[in-house]
Amino acid sequence: MPNFTPQALRALASLIVGRMGSSPEEAEEVVDHLVRANLSGHDSHGVGMLPAYVRLLQDGLLVPNQTPHTVLDAGALLVIDARRGFGQRLAADAVRRAIARARETGACVLALRNSTHVGRIGTYGELAARAGMAFTAFVNVTDGRDIQAPWACAEPRLGTNPFCIAVPGGGADGGAPSLMLDMATTTIAAGKARVAYNKGEPVPEGSLIDAAGEPTGDPTGFIRDHTGAMLSFGRHKGSGMAVMCEIMAGAIGGGQRVDEPTRGGILNSMLATVIDLSRLGDAAAIVQNIEATKQHIRASRPAPGFDEVLLPGEPEHRAARQRSETGIEVDATTWHDIREAAGKLGMTEAEIDRAVGAN
Ligand SMILES: NC(=O)c1ccc[n+]([C@@H]2O[C@H](COP(=O)([O-])OP(=O)(O)OC[C@H]3O[C@@H](n4cnc5c(N)ncnc54)[C@H](O)[C@@H]3O)[C@@H](O)[C@H]2O)c1
Repeated sequence: MPNFTPQALRALASLIVGRMGSSPEEAEEVVDHLVRANLSGHDSHGVGMLPAYVRLLQDGLLVPNQTPHTVLDAGALLVIDARRGFGQRLAADAVRRAIARARETGACVLALRNSTHVGRIGTYGELAARAGMAFTAFVNVTDGRDIQAPWACAEPRLGTNPFCIAVPGGGADGGAPSLMLDMATTTIAAGKARVAYNKGEPVPEGSLIDAAGEPTGDPTGFIRDHTGAMLSFGRHKGSGMAVMCEIMAGAIGGGQRVDEPTRGGILNSMLATVIDLSRLGDAAAIVQNIEATKQHIRASRPAPGFDEVLLPGEPEHRAARQRSETGIEVDATTWHDIREAAGKLGMTEAEIDRAVGAN
């Protein structure tokens, strides 16, 4: 499996996103997001998404350098339509606006509509937490085929509808969030089924059903033949979360709803809240209280079969530390697909190899 330094992947991804037509500023935001996703262990939302983005561009479903439309700007309410722009830039810009607003008003409710794939939601949680804000986001995924079967459904009716909560840390580790829950409401993220399929590996038990609605560990039907569905995490409770992410982002936030006609794109809409801790009270004391609660949980004896108690966000920190040292592995299929996508943009094999330092 090819292994790359983060710098090598950044160099290649920058060339590809630049060739897609993005300005250097947009390319930098998109590439930084993708490589950080790889670093944090979420290859499903890293550079392996580039072939999908090239397809969306060529189908007219992703608009580089898009100007977002501010639908509503009223005190603590911000509604922004991203108009199929590059999600990693437009979502980050929207969250930056929400952070600035929360500094004035104490809190901001942001509805971001109709962005092309915004990637790893945790990126926006990190942005807010680093600014001293608590962050929540309900996100839906629309415009393609439904892939999540809610509780009791034998057929897919929703996207993987992620959910994120991030809270600030005390300034250590560059102000990284103290805790961050960032998750798909399916048992695994859809991109993880793609990565498993590309590696020829099974998906974890309880993740997928086949076309007949029966449980399966084989991702082939789901990825190659577009049959079957992903299951919600946590039975009826996770399914309920998935339904409510759809409602909050779609019906309430005004983004595309899952019941509307699709064009074959990947659209994310997000209803987020950003709360300035320093306006709620003593931010330093709140952060200390967060730490105290963390210590209380961590002090538990690990359950049988576990070596230690981890808290949300810790696996990603560890992965980032480790991958910064050991490099990022890209599976052979993903690597082939990235090269092919670069070729579709007119890049030569030599250019690709030069970018990653193979020549
Ligand atoms: N843009 C989209 O349309 C979209 C859709 C779905 C998912 N996503 C993204 O996909 C990524 C992956 O999602 P996922 O559901 O596969 O994540 P995951 O299952 O790997 O992790 C989910 C959460 O559980 C925590 N966690 C993991 N292992 C843990 C452990 N042993 N102890 C304690 N906590 C632990 C993680 O820190 C994370 O907060 C996320 O970044 C999400 O935002 C994006």
